[in-house]
Amino acid sequence: MKKLVVEGLKYRYPGAQELALKDISFEVETGEFIGIIGRNLSGKSTLCQALVGLVPHFYHGAYGGKVIVDGLEVKNHTISEISRKVGIVFQNPFTQVTGSKLSVLEEVAFGLENMGVPRREMLERIDDALQLMGLEESKDRNPFDLSGGQMQRMAIAGIIAMKPQMIVLDEPTSQLDPQGSEEVFQAVQSLSREGMTVILTEHKPEKIARFADKVLLLDDGRVVDFDTPAQVFSREDLAEYGVEAPIYTKVCRQLNLRRVDSGLFPITLEEAREVLEKWR
Ligand SMILES: Nc1ncnc2c1ncn2[C@@H]1O[C@H](COP(=O)(O)OP(=O)(O)O)[C@@H](O)[C@H]1O
Ligand SMILES: [Mg+2]
Repeated sequence: MKKLVVEGLKYRYPGAQELALKDISFEVETGEFIGIIGRNLSGKSTLCQALVGLVPHFYHGAYGGKVIVDGLEVKNHTISEISRKVGIVFQNPFTQVTGSKLSVLEEVAFGLENMGVPRREMLERIDDALQLMGLEESKDRNPFDLSGGQMQRMAIAGIIAMKPQMIVLDEPTSQLDPQGSEEVFQAVQSLSREGMTVILTEHKPEKIARFADKVLLLDDGRVVDFDTPAQVFSREDLAEYGVEAPIYTKVCRQLNLRRVDSGLFPITLEEAREVLEKWR
């Protein structure tokens, strides 16, 4: 089933000369994990904001085309209505913490309290969300004592406690160390395995190669490609879009070592090891 349909989406910020999004179309099935890549200012964050209705409802500006999340056309609904279907997580976990809550549990409860969920159901949902994010042991800790990776997982727990069907994450690991990044990717993968649709922007190609089902390559507000990570990262013209292939792909391309099954270059460590062992 189509969870997200984007059709001819165009958008210009108020006062801007150029369109930030120029005729964007793509469709996402329920439960897919989509990685969005592209150079700085290619439109990744603007697209994320359009998926959750901040574009146009918060930013205003000139808007054309359609974004339909789970049958709901974003343009025609309020941000609060849309937030029941789709949640968003931003780059910096610190800016997402309310700053006024004394425990992880209270922090995760914050969004639910605003939704008017009954207390018992609220506690159940919080427990489930904390468990899924591997934070059940930390529920009484002060949010500011958490590591960056834990803090970002707490932000995700706050979103998934609201039970959205889709989650959008805009560079959720750009402020985190390697361990924190890995924790967040594992946590997001567990959501995707539970059937949640995931849209995530990221600069680290190795992570996208490992975790995403499909990759959307953006450049100058347009979709250049929307395909499997193996297809997108095998493009010879990737560098023209300011994007790097995973290091494994680069090495194997240099050695001209392709996968036997697909004829494409490996994109993960495991795939590279397989072709390198045969070659040796
Ligand atoms: N709040 C804003 N107001 C005006 N222009 C913006 C705003 N945010 C982004 N832009 C412009 O929109 C375009 C896309 O930016 P953005 O979506 O932030 O790209 P990315 O996330 O890929 O770096 C750029 O030209 C940028 O300057
Ligand atoms: Mg951005």
